[in-house]
Amino acid sequence: MKIAVVGTGYVGLVTGTCFAETGNDVTCVDIDRAKVEKLTNGQITIYEPGLEKLFVRNQREERLRFTTSLEDGVKDAMIIFLALPTPPGENGSADLTYVLGVAEDLGKIIKDYKVIVDKSTVPVGTAEKVHAAIARNCKTEFDVVSNPEFLREGVAVEDFMKPDRVVIGTSSERARKIMGDLYGPFVRQGNPVIFMDERSAELTKYAANSFLATKISFMNEIAQLCERLGADVDMVRRGIGSDERIGKRFLFPGIGYGGSCFPKDVKALVKSSKEVEYDFKILKSVMEVNESQKLSLLPKIRKYFGGNLKGKRFALWGLAFKPNTDDIREAPALDIIDALLSEGASICVYDPEAMNNVKNLLGEKVMYADNQYDCLQSADALIIATEWNEFRTPNFLKIVTALKNKVIFDGRNLFETDAIRELGFYYESIGREIAIPTNGIAHK
Ligand SMILES: NC(=O)c1ccc[n+]([C@@H]2O[C@H](COP(=O)([O-])OP(=O)(O)OC[C@H]3O[C@@H](n4cnc5c(N)ncnc54)[C@H](O)[C@@H]3O)[C@@H](O)[C@H]2O)c1
Repeated sequence: MKIAVVGTGYVGLVTGTCFAETGNDVTCVDIDRAKVEKLTNGQITIYEPGLEKLFVRNQREERLRFTTSLEDGVKDAMIIFLALPTPPGENGSADLTYVLGVAEDLGKIIKDYKVIVDKSTVPVGTAEKVHAAIARNCKTEFDVVSNPEFLREGVAVEDFMKPDRVVIGTSSERARKIMGDLYGPFVRQGNPVIFMDERSAELTKYAANSFLATKISFMNEIAQLCERLGADVDMVRRGIGSDERIGKRFLFPGIGYGGSCFPKDVKALVKSSKEVEYDFKILKSVMEVNESQKLSLLPKIRKYFGGNLKGKRFALWGLAFKPNTDDIREAPALDIIDALLSEGASICVYDPEAMNNVKNLLGEKVMYADNQYDCLQSADALIIATEWNEFRTPNFLKIVTALKNKVIFDGRNLFETDAIRELGFYYESIGREIAIPTNGIAHK
């Protein structure tokens, strides 16, 4: 099939490349000239495990092309995916300017039947708006389909090639058949393609992300309680996760969720609810808990240094909002950096993939190390903000040698508390204080 993907960011590039991998002829469109030039020259623009290999192969086989011209990109395509940004607008609702702007342009361009697919995460009712925006200038027949994307950054290729499910919202039999054929190769193991109406498909994506964010904030609150009651959140997590109704995944406490999706999608669902006069109380709390959790290491750091961080130097491991990505959007590490800088501390940072993105954002405000151990030189403490695998079993001798004090504040619970304290470290993590409760009050 001939496919166009409009918007060649995380979702667009993975979508385009994976559809090319199953033999489709794909053209990816983006307004960012530098990005299109790089991609055309065979340079990948995001870090995503496994993507580069597919990208190189499909470009070489001429099934994957890039252009800045919407008209050229879509002219031969039967299916046009919109993988455009939907950032939070000023009031928290999803900003549809990009999606509706392209829809308006498509109306002027398309000359024969097309299926236009919303892959961006968009509020309920957007398919109708996209339809109206195209129809304003369009004489030909077309269908608008909602096909939300559930890939996770860091495992995006795997998620796309073997999705747990594919959700397709359409009321058109013709579009249903085309979309079913397109996704056939991706669900050969029997995972479902779930057809539904457009509105339900749009809401499914928000419901999924909001539920996952809720799980995270819930566990972070349990972790807060553990610290106060002398319980160990790792034990509680294992204890509840073995109940199939709860499940083992997404129960790890930490310094909060970030990224380009959870924060904005939860906010947008709260806003959409408000518009229909529904007060989504749980989600409001989920956001509130997450904001405070991002800075939950700070009181522990302040306490250790007697309330004064001025002149202290910190090593920060991990900048990306999660491992295996270079994405730093809404990353908790950035909140920690802001807070430490505002209290007069200096910071040397290291991340395996996200350094360039942070350099572009923060410039000279922090120092950048070439590797995780250089980062530690003369630091008063190490702070861990992202659970990259290479941080899990580090060379502790090198850590001890480089750090000024044997102090670690771990926002991702990478180490066994007892083992690391045996090595002589002062170690604080999330929800795992060694505490002996007396009358319900925990002591260290
Ligand atoms: N990143 C994720 O993990 C993820 C997962 C599922 C869904 N989503 C959703 O997918 C959508 C896209 O997210 P993303 O992370 O890929 O965003 P992104 O910012 O990485 O990519 C968007 C791309 O669109 C391009 N663009 C902007 N205006 C354009 C226009 N008029 N014409 C052509 N290109 C244009 C930008 O230059 C950019 O390259 C969002 O709605 C997001 O919520 C993201």
